[in-house]
Amino acid sequence: MPASVLTFAEKKRRHEKIVVLTAYDALTASLVHAAGADAILVGDSAGMVFAGHETTLPVTMDEMLYHTRSVVRGARGAFIIADMPFLSYQCGHDEAVHNAGRFLKEGGAQAVKLEGADAGLVARLVSIGIPVMGHLGLTPQSVHALGGFRAQGKTMAAAARLIEHAKALDIAGCFAIVLECIPATVAARVTETVAAATIGIGAGIACDGQVSVINDLLGLSTGYVPKHAKQYAHFYDEGLAAIRTYVDDVRSGAFPQAEHSILTSDEPPAAKPETPRVDTTP
Ligand code: KIV
Repeated sequence: MPASVLTFAEKKRRHEKIVVLTAYDALTASLVHAAGADAILVGDSAGMVFAGHETTLPVTMDEMLYHTRSVVRGARGAFIIADMPFLSYQCGHDEAVHNAGRFLKEGGAQAVKLEGADAGLVARLVSIGIPVMGHLGLTPQSVHALGGFRAQGKTMAAAARLIEHAKALDIAGCFAIVLECIPATVAARVTETVAAATIGIGAGIACDGQVSVINDLLGLSTGYVPKHAKQYAHFYDEGLAAIRTYVDDVRSGAFPQAEHSILTSDEPPAAKPETPRVDTTP
């Protein structure tokens, strides 16, 4: 059965970890889907890791729709959550409903994610059939209000407030809540309190699932890698080495060779180098 909001509830009930990864383009989405992730988040982190901005604030609805459509094309049958960009849902509920609807109607996503604790908006979206993933803790769209990309919920008061916000989002109908950069103990408390699946990023092992930014996982970035991220590959370094070899090959004349060249129709094809035969006789 294809993944859906029910997958999140079912996996939470069975204590099976939920795997979510970001993707912003068709090819990466196809990799994430083929690897068996439960859902793909088209995060507005695209603004930073894809478009090179310092924050997620400049990301627009049009850009997010473009990324969402690309991911949908690359990962048919996957459960795809589109991230609502800054100011697409903070300027009134009617505008927020319209923009969230565009992600399903024009983008082909199955759900949206939004940051913060606007439970009234979540309830309205859920009531019209738009599944919502919440996002608490370090909410990057509030980077300036938070004084930087800093861990949240570290004092007793802040932790209590965060738990109250999680309860409100849960009652409003979120099927899942991202908990970003909060103490593991606070994430554990939220996880046992709410029915929604908690999806952690820098929030410890007790969450119902984990989400990672695909560029961090693949080592596909030039700068800062967050403390909570684990690099499973070093694609930037490998890509750089490959491109340097290409640059050298073009300059030295080692590329292109005859096999990379187009022949005229009466020209014999270049002889292939003989494959050495392996003698299998006993
Ligand atoms: O935009 C994003 O990629 C996110 C994840 C880090 C949760 O919000």
